[in-house]
Amino acid sequence: MSDPVLAAAAQIHDVEQGLIPTPVVRTFFDEQTFTASHVVHDPVTRDAAIIDSVLEYDAASGRTSHRGAQRIVDHVRAEGLHVQWQLETHAHADHLSAAPWLQQQLGGRLGIGAEIVRVQDVFGKVFNAGTDFARDGSQFDRLFHDGDRFTIGSIQAIALHVPGHTPADMAFVIGDAAFIGDTLFMPDYGTARADFPGGDARQLYRSIRRLLSLPDRTRLFLCHDYKAPGRDHFAWETTIGAERHGNIHVHEGIEEDTFAAMRTARDATLSLPNLIMPSVQVNMRGGRLPEPESNGTRYIKIPIDTL
Ligand SMILES: [Fe+2]
Repeated sequence: MSDPVLAAAAQIHDVEQGLIPTPVVRTFFDEQTFTASHVVHDPVTRDAAIIDSVLEYDAASGRTSHRGAQRIVDHVRAEGLHVQWQLETHAHADHLSAAPWLQQQLGGRLGIGAEIVRVQDVFGKVFNAGTDFARDGSQFDRLFHDGDRFTIGSIQAIALHVPGHTPADMAFVIGDAAFIGDTLFMPDYGTARADFPGGDARQLYRSIRRLLSLPDRTRLFLCHDYKAPGRDHFAWETTIGAERHGNIHVHEGIEEDTFAAMRTARDATLSLPNLIMPSVQVNMRGGRLPEPESNGTRYIKIPIDTL
């Protein structure tokens, strides 16, 4: 089957038929950056993947903390899981990845979309990273292309390229659960911004349309939630059907022109994420901090009057 979305739909059907185990998902929410990290595992083999982990960073003091990531380690150990993958849906601009630290603790191969090389090229220039910063994706163990397949234990998974928020965004459809990064948010909140370097509102619309052609009962796990007016709790799980019928930005019937005009106008009102400077510098390196200088200290750079 050549169309990756059709292949993903067939895989979701196989879960419903009981041919593939239903993946178990546990979510860890970071209230500082509104990020949902997910641990997904095969209940039969207990193989697992960790998706979009967070390393806490205090901008005022420059201090990092593994407190949140430790909760993931504790969960993995308590459940007796074997981590096969550390997956990033994209190079995040609002939080630092804990993937390298989690790899040390738990193992797993680090994977991200192949277009990360474009992100590395753009931000390598912004931060004047120098020739020691490779812009070929070599900081990662696997670069995913649209339609690439992988497995978590006995569960099949497929990667979908869903650019728009950034050029490198991927969605991972694992069994019947789709981890869609920054594309759709909860139906009452809408969609991700498309104004970062390399972002594109029309491309985001087309990526979302692809996702919305998955079966209605596909379980969706989001990367962020900011609550919505009238909702007082964080939420990160919904379904394709709920998004198709009810997403305030892209429900059925909203055309590309309407969406792009709305998205562009809304993005113009948004300020940059608090942690964009440290996040991008670290995440373009696969979550590794910049190399220490001659005094042994690592530094984050701030380009003035650039972003
Ligand atoms: Fe993002």
